[in-house]
Amino acid sequence: MRKWILVAGLGALIACSSADDSGENAGPAPVISRGEAIYNQNCKLCHGSRGNLGVSGAFNLRQSTLTVPEKIQVITNGRNGMAAYKGILSDEEILLVATYTESLHD
Ligand code: HEC
Repeated sequence: MRKWILVAGLGALIACSSADDSGENAGPAPVISRGEAIYNQNCKLCHGSRGNLGVSGAFNLRQSTLTVPEKIQVITNGRNGMAAYKGILSDEEILLVATYTESLHD
């Protein structure tokens, strides 16, 4: 439930910051594609394009049971073999990429 509130909030954030006010670009599609681009640049290396590559012990994201806020914690602050992305990605980018990993689930 909480994650859908977050996703809705993110959609609103993007809709507001977009120059296009037609409203047609609002909604999950741009959120997912921006998150995917961030994922492909920063995360694919270890987690793989489908989330289950497992390089150097990278967690299988298809089987993650973390909520989006918990994923944001791990991505922001790191955990064991997983680097911290604080200072590398913005808070908004971390939110986008955490939301994107939800789409990788089995
Ligand atoms: C250097 C390899 C590496 C990269 C790059 C990397 N990760 Fe990880 N990731 C790991 C490892 C290793 C773990 C397991 C950490 C542990 O054992 O506590 C992990 C764990 C995670 C988890 C926790 C999953 C769970 O259910 O416990 C998430 C979420 C995650 N990574 C997302 C990402 C995202 C998003 C990115 C890109 C911004 C990323 N990772 C980039 C190696 C990596």
